[in-house]
Amino acid sequence: MSDKSITSLAIRRPDDWHLHLRDGAMMRAVLPETTRHFARAIVMPNLVPPVVTATDAVEYRARILAALPAGADFTPLMTLYLTEDTNPEEVAAAHDAGIATAVKLYPAGATTNSASGVRDMEKVRPVLETMAEIGMPLCVHGEVTDNDVDIFDREAVFIDKVLKPLRKKVPDLRIVMEHVTTQHAVDYVRDTHKNLAATITTHHLIINRNNILAGGIKPHFYCLPVAKREAHRVALVQAAVSGDKRFFLGTDSAPHTDAAKLQPCGCAGIFTAPNTMSCLAEVFDAADRLKKLEAFTSLNGPQFYRLPPNEDRITLRKGDPVTYPTHIDTADGPVTVFDPGFDLHWHVEG
Ligand code: NCD
Ligand code: ZN
Repeated sequence: MSDKSITSLAIRRPDDWHLHLRDGAMMRAVLPETTRHFARAIVMPNLVPPVVTATDAVEYRARILAALPAGADFTPLMTLYLTEDTNPEEVAAAHDAGIATAVKLYPAGATTNSASGVRDMEKVRPVLETMAEIGMPLCVHGEVTDNDVDIFDREAVFIDKVLKPLRKKVPDLRIVMEHVTTQHAVDYVRDTHKNLAATITTHHLIINRNNILAGGIKPHFYCLPVAKREAHRVALVQAAVSGDKRFFLGTDSAPHTDAAKLQPCGCAGIFTAPNTMSCLAEVFDAADRLKKLEAFTSLNGPQFYRLPPNEDRITLRKGDPVTYPTHIDTADGPVTVFDPGFDLHWHVEG
């Protein structure tokens, strides 16, 4: 029977394995958009200054918990921002104490707030070896930053120049290649049978580079890694709907105010938290793979992170177009919500 006849779908409550919550007023405004549907999230550490030490993570987690909407049942899973000065023993202790779930590698200069990232992978080798020993995952922003590498090739070059050598040197390191955007990355993950998984964002399943650049420039579709050509989007959809346990959801919902996005040098980041589950249901429905949605949003991620899946469920119901705000108001100014460019019919209940 085709999944197309399904109009109601109960799935385990989803988790978001890559999320930007920011801090202060912005965090208070965007947090309810995630806690409404998601039980847990891997929280990115690229604050200014970044979340580098165990103490930073403890304090940031406390600020998130203090900002939770009343009645929300949400667990932030904290990450430490890897720098060339990160201390292996401190990372191991933070993991052991349940303070840090993963470590995040930003190549220096790769994206928003990544200036303190890594320039020389050899300098962080001791940390990575310790993480391999204790089974702590490394979340990777997989783009090189060399100016002479075309921005559309930066993920593929990263795989060849950084990821492959790293996986040879530290084969037991458990790696999540985050927000993959290319057929190359999908193939690389599929060809690997151990210690490697990938997250896929909501927006990269929906937009390609034409959406950003054809018919006028659309800053609200600009994020990093930048969306690629249509064939890559199709490869991402195939990976997501396949049920393959190495692919799971990391929305990379990354709020910036409109003022920060709509300027000559606008920020990278797309805010998808409010309508992510409706968008994903639409994508899986269009691919006739609704029954694989739960694996992507609720099962594969916990399995990689060695956590139990959530016990409770949400129900997705197909109906009249879903209404959602075009933007969220924050004390810093409005933040535009991702517009997929088509009606969403899947309502989330519970
Ligand atoms: C993220 C942000 O705004 O913090 N931006 C983005 O385009 N995805 C950083 C990141 O994850 O690259
Ligand atoms: Zn991100």
